Amino acid sequence: MVTGASSGIGRTTALLFAERGARVFGTSRRERPDEGGVRMLRLDVRSDESVRECVDEVLAQADGIDILINNAGVMLEGFAEETAPDEARAVFETNFFGAVRLVDAVLPGMRERRRGRIVNVGSLAAWIGEPGEGFYAASKAALARYTESLRHEVWHLGIKVCLVEPGVFATEVLDAATAAGAAIADYDGPRESARATLHGALRRGEDPRKAAQVVWKAATARAPRGRYGAGGQSFVVPRLRTLAPQRLVDIALRRAYGLPRR
Ligand SMILES: NC(=O)c1ccc[n+]([C@@H]2O[C@H](COP(=O)([O-])OP(=O)(O)OC[C@H]3O[C@@H](n4cnc5c(N)ncnc54)[C@H](OP(=O)(O)O)[C@@H]3O)[C@@H](O)[C@H]2O)c1
Repeated sequence: MVTGASSGIGRTTALLFAERGARVFGTSRRERPDEGGVRMLRLDVRSDESVRECVDEVLAQADGIDILINNAGVMLEGFAEETAPDEARAVFETNFFGAVRLVDAVLPGMRERRRGRIVNVGSLAAWIGEPGEGFYAASKAALARYTESLRHEVWHLGIKVCLVEPGVFATEVLDAATAAGAAIADYDGPRESARATLHGALRRGEDPRKAAQVVWKAATARAPRGRYGAGGQSFVVPRLRTLAPQRLVDIALRRAYGLPRR
């Protein structure tokens, strides 16, 4: 079962699994036709009821859910002070609590069968608080730590949990992104510069099929690692974050995002 299978990494992943012989249920908030062997179902991960109905529908059609790929996610652009708590909360509702809802819905079946695999799609953004996407990064950092705890909690039940953290992939994620509502003039220049950096990077992003292959590896490896990076930067960024002095990371990041000096 792949959430958010209507576009980008989720769609490519669902199609790859189907191509490789898996029986795949993909989801979207809208009614979508089945595609390439992927059976499409309606699901809004922000709603308890929608999650329950969707998982029940899958279980009515299949014996059980072997693999859950929690991929649905949204981006919120804007500087922290410009973002209202409700806007920030909305990102967590999809990126964090959406994944939690799905996990809670599939775990009883997986516990009963004493097997199952859960792959949560986080983001490399969790490693560095980039300007203009703080709440997105925070939601993915929360997902990363939650995934780690869950991995240990269900290990003895035969359920394997892992995290895939993609770097930068050319998908529809920015078309679907929301922008913080309260623009503050003091941030106009830096916000536009940070936005241009992010949009430029995503335009030049890698092929989502590369990320799908990493998800496949995480979902099928006999002894899956806790974390898989996907994409060119996924090796460098965590090491830079943990090994390079903070001051150096700050300077490089501010330069990369074209932020003004004091
Ligand atoms: N692209 C990147 O560079 C990148 C980097 C790091 C991490 N990621 C992560 O990878 C995942 C996929 O992103 P993407 O880049 O492929 O973006 P995308 O093309 O915008 O796909 C996002 C998917 O999530 C679904 N979705 C959004 N809100 C939903 C909700 N409330 N309920 C159910 N489904 C919902 C969308 O489906 P509908 O609109 O049809 O409902 C869509 O299929 C996300 O978790 C994202 O944070 C992406």
